[in-house]
Amino acid sequence: MNIDRNIVLIGFMGCGKTTFGKKLSKKLRCGFIDTDRYIELKEGMSIPQIFAEKGEKVFRQIESQVCEEAAAKNGVVVATGGGIIKNPENMRLLKKNGVVVYLKATPEHIYRNIGNDNGRPLLRGGDKMEKITSLLSERVPVYEKYADITVSVTGGTVNQVTDRIANSLEGIFMKKICVIHGPNLNFTGIREKGIYGTKNLDEINSYIIEEGTRLGFEVEVFQSNFEGAIIDRLQKCYYDNVDGIVINPGAYTHYSYAIRDAIASVQIPAVEVHLSNIHTRDEFRHKSVTAPACIGQMCGFGEYGYVLAMSALKMRI
Ligand code: DQA
Repeated sequence: MNIDRNIVLIGFMGCGKTTFGKKLSKKLRCGFIDTDRYIELKEGMSIPQIFAEKGEKVFRQIESQVCEEAAAKNGVVVATGGGIIKNPENMRLLKKNGVVVYLKATPEHIYRNIGNDNGRPLLRGGDKMEKITSLLSERVPVYEKYADITVSVTGGTVNQVTDRIANSLEGIFMKKICVIHGPNLNFTGIREKGIYGTKNLDEINSYIIEEGTRLGFEVEVFQSNFEGAIIDRLQKCYYDNVDGIVINPGAYTHYSYAIRDAIASVQIPAVEVHLSNIHTRDEFRHKSVTAPACIGQMCGFGEYGYVLAMSALKMRI
């Protein structure tokens, strides 16, 4: 997914914003900020200490500064303190560049998580369950007001809930496809036109991007005549959280175990494409060592093969 904005987690204390935020940022391979932890680091004291020594008003001021800093970032998961929603300016800032996800939890779930935690200033004194229920009923309408998406965190393991949150973001962030062309494909339009067609690589790439965008993808294209550069690009797909790969490894198809291993290593669904039908050509082209690492292969359809490959990826991812 192309995480081009922040993912802001809001929800009541003890709903798991920090736990799920950390897991989600790992899963999506993006940065993570926990506003409460950040405040503690900045101030050199714990939240209960700040409340006790400086008071809630000062804490809220620091919290607003931290919101400003978080909102200036891009593509990070932000786990917010439970009360951040109390200040509309905080939410205006965080929403400006972020998708707000409300992590919804039942009072029982929250009690299970923090019933024994005496470090929560707002739950001190009196019956904790009663306090949770009354504070929650006050805050739920506010969480709902700001939420772009609501995800229930009650039920399921940490990994399952994290997957639920990630899945809920799928309609929001575009899926990323990387199209990789191998050696000599930069010579398309010049080389053996009867086999590879008359379009040059720029024209083919414009067509791929146009059709990929129509399919709802964000498309990146890359070409190299070097095996190592192709492997580096495949590995970059892993770190960039690319959702699908379309690769025409050119002649490397027939003998590069290193490219085959790189495709397998990144664990991203890949489709192999060839402009020509390699199975009707020279004997040495009949074998692809790279295709077994892919989910499928399209060949013989010219540049339309790239569109077929992207459609296949759309169905698969
Ligand atoms: C090709 C087929 C390969 O056999 C050849 O080496 C290429 C292009 C194709 O797109 O048809 O360079 O991958």
